[in-house]
Amino acid sequence: MRARTVLTAMVIWAAAAAFSLPAVYAQGKDNPDAARKAFLRACKVFMHPRCVNCHPRGDRPLQGDDSHPHSMHVVRGPEGLGKNGLLCSTCHQEENLPGAHMPPGALGWELPPANMPMVFEKITPRVLCEHLKDPAQNGRRSPEELIEHVNSTPIVLWGWDPGEGRTPVPVPHDEFVKDVREWVENGAACPE
Ligand code: HEC
Ligand code: HEC
Repeated sequence: MRARTVLTAMVIWAAAAAFSLPAVYAQGKDNPDAARKAFLRACKVFMHPRCVNCHPRGDRPLQGDDSHPHSMHVVRGPEGLGKNGLLCSTCHQEENLPGAHMPPGALGWELPPANMPMVFEKITPRVLCEHLKDPAQNGRRSPEELIEHVNSTPIVLWGWDPGEGRTPVPVPHDEFVKDVREWVENGAACPE
């Protein structure tokens, strides 16, 4: 009897897991127009140089408001930690170092890994939107984990406190999180 209940529960769980992906994006209400508008507002942040500079197309992090390649031939490396003795952590600490042109810092300062580079640089809102919904491109994150990531990860929060001489992200952080949440809760439709 007991084993049977457990088995039934497992079957239900497996069925739910198999279908959970589209379902979680449409949490009751599905409003593609509101979702697209919220996503386009959030793009002002995703596509800001403070974010793009760690989400480059190529293998080098970028620097400055013009997103030029990182000096000293710093490269990603397989895990995103740097390579050839130039590890991010050699220069970047867990907080900004005081002074102009000193390395900025936050807990976990690195690039996404080479096998999942999470590119934000020079892409359209539509392509970014598809990427953020795709577990194979977004670090296997559920929509809720994506919201949590932009809500509380130190390297994201750094964009609003980027250290001397750098422009902070202009949209308030709580507005940005609200826009990402609205996009998800309205069904996560992508702009054309
Ligand atoms: C040899 C030291 C050194 C290493 C190694 C290094 N950086 Fe930097 N990085 C710096 C310095 C210094 C700056 C600030 C330059 C300035 O403000 O003019 C900087 C700036 C940056 C910025 C620019 C932030 C912005 O928005 O303008 C990013 C992004 C960055 N580094 C990422 C990385 C990553 C990721 C790694 C490892 C893959 C890394 N860096 C390795 C010294 C280093
Ligand atoms: C110091 C480098 C760095 C900065 C600055 C940075 N990120 Fe990231 N970001 C990463 C890394 C590394 C990951 C992957 C971490 C993981 O998967 O655990 C990541 C992952 C993400 C993800 C997860 C999903 C995906 O597919 O991209 C989002 C969303 C994200 N970052 C948004 C932002 C936003 C918004 C900003 C600017 C406010 C920003 N990041 C600034 C390094 C950075």
